[in-house]
Amino acid sequence: VHAVISTVTTAAELRALLDAERSAGRTVGFVPTMGYLHEGHASLIAAAAAADDVVVSSIFVNPLQFAPTEDLAAYPRDLEGDRRVAEAAGCDLVFAPADDEMYPGGRDAVLTTVAVPALAGVMEGASRPTHFAGVCTVVAKLFHLVGPCRAWFGEKDYQQLAILRRMALDLSFPVEVVGAPTVREPDGLALSSRNVYLTAEEREVAPVLQRALRTGAAAIADGETDADAVRATMAAVIDAAPLGELDYVEVADPDTLQTLTVAGPAARLFGAVRFGRARLIDNIAASPPAGAAAGADGGSAA
Ligand code: PAF
Repeated sequence: VHAVISTVTTAAELRALLDAERSAGRTVGFVPTMGYLHEGHASLIAAAAAADDVVVSSIFVNPLQFAPTEDLAAYPRDLEGDRRVAEAAGCDLVFAPADDEMYPGGRDAVLTTVAVPALAGVMEGASRPTHFAGVCTVVAKLFHLVGPCRAWFGEKDYQQLAILRRMALDLSFPVEVVGAPTVREPDGLALSSRNVYLTAEEREVAPVLQRALRTGAAAIADGETDADAVRATMAAVIDAAPLGELDYVEVADPDTLQTLTVAGPAARLFGAVRFGRARLIDNIAASPPAGAAAGADGGSAA
């Protein structure tokens, strides 16, 4: 029988419970979130439940990853709804700390941060220069509190996933960082807690971001290797739509996240578009035509 999901709010309780589980020989899966859980989070929790014995999910809107101008105060919250979604997806334990449990003395009292600058300056980091250090710092803290585990992150935030994977490797966390595919609405819009900011009109147009990325991937699949041409193709799709304001489209290496000039055998396409109050991001993989040799002088098909 599945026990009713329990919620703990202190680091000490979380540690004691998970240490006891591991001492009893059970493995731990971890899904860190900022709450307002949707099907994307549920799919991460379900994947964690399939892979490990005990699943813990944290719900904490991390002030450190919001710039003063961003939507921290307005960020949507619903702890009761989150507990229901988490439990239905197979979560055993929710960790929902108050701000001062994570940051005694407040965010300004934090003197130590974790950063992966080589991966954090581009794309999301270009317009949000302190964002990823805020993410890394809170996730490092959560990894210390949860202990040895397998930790799940959505590919929707692909740059975050790549950065956290690197952080866990470089700092020898006893954590296996795992990515899981983006969950989408039937019209292609990637699920995000921030989708609630969209007006009805914006919601209708919002799938243009995914469509732009798919247009870029189709160009690469047709033999286009000039990354600038792919970027221009994607930007044109977004520019042609009403309402959306393009922030960036990018063709980047999936591991180093650096901008590519040639869309080679492995490329990842990224985009960010602002719709009114909402800033939406998305990304997909792209591959050249089957049979195209790496480094071949292709590119003429476009
Ligand atoms: O992806 C998120 O929801 C957050 O960035 C994370 C990883 C929970 C850290 O606050």
